[in-house]
Parts: sequence; structure tokens; C-alpha cells
Amino acid sequence: MAEEEQQERLVYVCDGGDCSEKGSVELYERLKEKLEAKDPDLEKVKLRKYPCFGGCDCGINITVWPDRIFYSKVTDADLDEIAGHLEGEREPVERLRGHVEQDVEEIIWQLLDSPY
Ligand code: FES
Repeated sequence: MAEEEQQERLVYVCDGGDCSEKGSVELYERLKEKLEAKDPDLEKVKLRKYPCFGGCDCGINITVWPDRIFYSKVTDADLDEIAGHLEGEREPVERLRGHVEQDVEEIIWQLLDSPY
């Protein structure tokens, strides 16, 4: 079941060293293209790069805020499902969640929740 109401989301794709080696720079561009196909000005989903989440072994990592969804081990094959989730058309992609340590996730949410 899709979310009842689409709220603006802030999505970070890691472009740290390990994730970049796994192709995160190119993956960011492909995700951007997919999202722009339905939302040309990216008004509902803001896409950004992040220097490193600290879960490098589990890359490529993508976070979705304020949902607190931490996607890991992301490949091109996952992008249609992730885009569907970000566009409010489907539930989160569960198989990509829960790979990093819980405290790593928590540190990231504290940082992203902070207004500064
Ligand atoms: S390089 Fe992506 S989490 Fe560290």
C-alpha cells in the first residue's frame, strides 16, 4: 500500500570513496533521471550527495529523510523500485534495509534531524 500523502523527501546518495568505487556517482545520475521523468523540477524529492554515512562496507548507501529509511547494497537493478517508493507509489524496498549497524543509522538520523 502506498503512502496516503506524499510529503517532500530529502534523499542522499553517498558519494564517499567506497560507494563511489561501487558506482554511486553514476547511480546518482540514473536515479535523478528516473525521478525527473515524473517530477521534472524535483519538487517532491530533493536529491543530494552525501560525503560518507559510515556504513562503507554496505555501500552503495542511500538515505531517505524524514522517513528514516537507510537503503544499502543498492545497485542499478534496485532503482526502479526505489524511485517507485520515493514517488509514493509503493512501500519501501525492505530487502535493502537493515544492513548497516543500528547505531550508524542512528547517528545519521540525528545529523539529518538537526536543523544546523
Ligand atoms: S563511502 Fe559510502 S558510506 Fe562510506
